[in-house]
Amino acid sequence: MTETFRAMMIDTVDGRPQAAFREISMADLPDHDVLIEIAYSTLNYKDGLAISGKGRIARRTPMVAGVDLAGTVVSSRSPEWNSGDRVVLNGWGLSETEWGAFTRFQRVKPEWLIPLPAAFSMQQAMAIGTAGYTAALCVDALETWGTITPGEGEILVTGAAGGVGSVAISLLAARGYRVIASTGRPDTEEYLTSLGAIGIIDRATLAEKGGPLQKEHWTGGIDSVGSTTLANALAQTVRGGAIAACGLAGGADLPGTVMPHILRAVTLIGVDSVYATRTQRLAAWERLSRDLDPAHLDSMTTVAPMSDLPELAETIVAGRIRGRVVIDVNA
Ligand SMILES: NC(=O)c1ccc[n+]([C@@H]2O[C@H](COP(=O)([O-])OP(=O)(O)OC[C@H]3O[C@@H](n4cnc5c(N)ncnc54)[C@H](OP(=O)(O)O)[C@@H]3O)[C@@H](O)[C@H]2O)c1
Repeated sequence: MTETFRAMMIDTVDGRPQAAFREISMADLPDHDVLIEIAYSTLNYKDGLAISGKGRIARRTPMVAGVDLAGTVVSSRSPEWNSGDRVVLNGWGLSETEWGAFTRFQRVKPEWLIPLPAAFSMQQAMAIGTAGYTAALCVDALETWGTITPGEGEILVTGAAGGVGSVAISLLAARGYRVIASTGRPDTEEYLTSLGAIGIIDRATLAEKGGPLQKEHWTGGIDSVGSTTLANALAQTVRGGAIAACGLAGGADLPGTVMPHILRAVTLIGVDSVYATRTQRLAAWERLSRDLDPAHLDSMTTVAPMSDLPELAETIVAGRIRGRVVIDVNA
């Protein structure tokens, strides 16, 4: 096939990453075993960093950006997948070391794919995307590594109006947790409450450096902000509680002490979605299928054409996207 199609490509220009749309063909794609026709991708914070050039996400160039895809298998050299299978791919280094999802076709390794869960359309799967699947991994982490069970105290969700935060609130509320949402956007209160938060706090209350052990509030938490926010969340967690940390929207530093860990047995659980095992992925998607209210998902989702990516990248890095944006790679 000599047909060309558009891809969001990262190149290195004057030593810096630079994003631009480029026409590519099948011959340009990597020689992996499964050819996918992509229906939808999605906008993650990492995509924003890659396309805006505010982060060095691509570890080699040229690189097709885009972390997540949902699509249909066109052809497969692997017995695991057949033409017509509907599949989802999250992470596995797409847009970092492997060509990604902002394109109509991509070739990928069979072990990176999971079947599209029956509960979701391709568009809904990408409304969830890495952000939502990471939120599910965080809830799994709290319930397995931590000793958190519904009904016991309050769970803090930071970066609440963002992608991870929005899905985390909905998943936790569905399980019966009492969720307190931390946001810098007071105008999102009605939205966050509609997802299941029972209380809202101003993120500024977690942004200043605080004491090593503060008044105990949180039985657990899901943090996508990092920096002083995470340090304060840990210092405010009750004895034996746990915080699942997955993000750095507020900074990559962690200006805290060991005191919450050694005097209150607080656990800090790291969550990485990119190289999570297949078992962890399937469990997270099972949780999403079971607990994510489709009406909540609809209320947090907008759909945009791929041509909007440059502008959307700036918007998500500025912390101004509410919920999730699905990217229609064919528009
Ligand atoms: N570990 C992993 O595998 C993994 C997977 C997915 C995402 N992540 C990371 O998780 C983070 C969130 O991702 P996302 O897709 O949810 O992004 P997002 O939609 O942009 O949400 C991030 C939210 O963080 C808050 N925020 C932004 N800037 C802030 C600042 N300077 N200080 C305090 N809060 C700030 C905002 O929430 P409010 O407006 O409500 O305050 C924003 O909506 C990112 O750092 C991303 O890289 C990691």
